[in-house]
Amino acid sequence: MKIGNTELRHGIFLAPMAGFSDRAMRRVCHEMGAEYSVTEMISAKAVTFGDKKTFSLARIRDDEGPVALQIFGSEPDVMGRAAEILTNRDWGDGNVAPSAIDINMGCPVHKIFSNGEGSALMRDPNLIYRIVKSVKENTDLPVTVKHRTGVSADKINAVECALAAEAGGAELITVHGRTRVQMYSGDVDRKTIKKVKMSVHIPVIANGDIISASDAISMLSETGADGIAIGRGAVGNPFIFGEIISALDGKKYTPPTLDERVEVALWQLRLSIEDKGEGVAVPEARKQIASYLHSFRGAAKIRAEINRALTYVEIEKIFFEALRNENS
Ligand SMILES: Cc1cc2nc3c(=O)[nH]c(=O)nc-3n(C[C@H](O)[C@H](O)[C@H](O)COP(=O)(O)O)c2cc1C
Repeated sequence: MKIGNTELRHGIFLAPMAGFSDRAMRRVCHEMGAEYSVTEMISAKAVTFGDKKTFSLARIRDDEGPVALQIFGSEPDVMGRAAEILTNRDWGDGNVAPSAIDINMGCPVHKIFSNGEGSALMRDPNLIYRIVKSVKENTDLPVTVKHRTGVSADKINAVECALAAEAGGAELITVHGRTRVQMYSGDVDRKTIKKVKMSVHIPVIANGDIISASDAISMLSETGADGIAIGRGAVGNPFIFGEIISALDGKKYTPPTLDERVEVALWQLRLSIEDKGEGVAVPEARKQIASYLHSFRGAAKIRAEINRALTYVEIEKIFFEALRNENS
């Protein structure tokens, strides 16, 4: 599969996750085998206002592999202007331009939906067409789209939305196999993902509840999708990418040892500190790095300790202690 000039062997993506898929997570996942990743969503409107924090979220380093920058919004002209700004921006030392612009058409949260953004766009395939077209006209980067199966169970229209996006110029579509009403739980509707795959001529990435290599393989075979995107399954477990790639290549997979889990968790935290500074990174990364230890003895107590920690040194101490307990 190809997205623009980027050739992907298996199409294994890290899905966009606000508050999670930051530079540190993308770097670690890339190292562990993720072939492509997507940033946390950023507001197109904020980009056009020149909002500093938004640009900071949009920074991508050259050691993360190919990364799509995800924008959200509802007005075609604003989305187009944001795409133009993001495409032509000088990102500064060590940073690189995104590999693609991805458009969020799946976010279910009330604040976004009630503004007519995110998954609300699925109510109006013609608007989807106009947004994609406007973004496409304002960037020379590939334009991709991520949406759900529909807004609710009685309004499953992923095929219509995907066709509208394709007609507007989208080069790839990721489908999270749930409706907006389902939010993040309930069955993933693989049949609708398959229908999308059979209806469009561009690559389709299947998404939802992949937490093991066998989930990945059954998702690919049941949907016929060109690839898969993994979100929550990679939180505290970036090793999942290696597990899936080994399975797809028919190679033996050796799961990480507890020492390796701790080593990678601390590495992710250090990357995050390098990027954001300790005061911001430690509180922000707590939930994610605590997930690395979910299978450790006394995980709830360890999590509570991590939640109180303010510095790298404190976290490191908690992790080493947990490791000693586990190995004793
Ligand atoms: C905390 C969190 C934040 C998310 N943020 C975004 C986002 O910014 N953009 C987006 O398109 N999807 C977002 N998603 C949805 C995921 O990309 C994905 O579609 C969903 O979690 C289902 O995949 P999974 O079961 O592999 O997690 C988010 C999901 C979670 C759990």
